[in-house]
Amino acid sequence: MQSPQVKVLMVCLGNICRSPTAHAVFAQRVGAAGLIHRIEVDSAGTGDWHIGHKPDNRAREAGARRGYDLDSLRARQVCADDFSRFDYILAMDENNLRDLQQLSPPQLRHKIRLFMEFSDSKERAVPDPYYGGPEGFEQVLDLVEAASDGLLDHIRDTELRVR
Ligand code: 4NP
Repeated sequence: MQSPQVKVLMVCLGNICRSPTAHAVFAQRVGAAGLIHRIEVDSAGTGDWHIGHKPDNRAREAGARRGYDLDSLRARQVCADDFSRFDYILAMDENNLRDLQQLSPPQLRHKIRLFMEFSDSKERAVPDPYYGGPEGFEQVLDLVEAASDGLLDHIRDTELRVR
């Protein structure tokens, strides 16, 4: 089997709400495009509180209502190897971006970007839904779906050169 050409890591704080949602949504887009052997997707958190945990029930249920399966995902923390292993290290918000930049070797910092850069939306961040109501999880899905479509277009154009 061909090894994946492009590796994408979705990052938030806990790796139980936003980045697993981004992981599942982007993986669904990659699968629908027939690119699972060429694009690898993973997710991680900058924090360590939820290592080994399933995604938050609210994220799993909101995702399932739109056809995304988050059940097999387990939280892990960002590690030093991630900065060399992944090509795109995508932060959900500015705090995640800053934390990643501090953790990264300086020569690999160019890989770290805000995920929402790939969306047409004016939003810069996927807001943390953890302490809010159910509407926050719907907003996460709306933002993540838009950014996933943009990211897939970008990778097809610039890395894979397929349409
Ligand atoms: P996430 O949400 O970063 O989208 O996974 C959070 C999950 C847990 C916590 C904060 C944010 N927490 O403080 O435990």
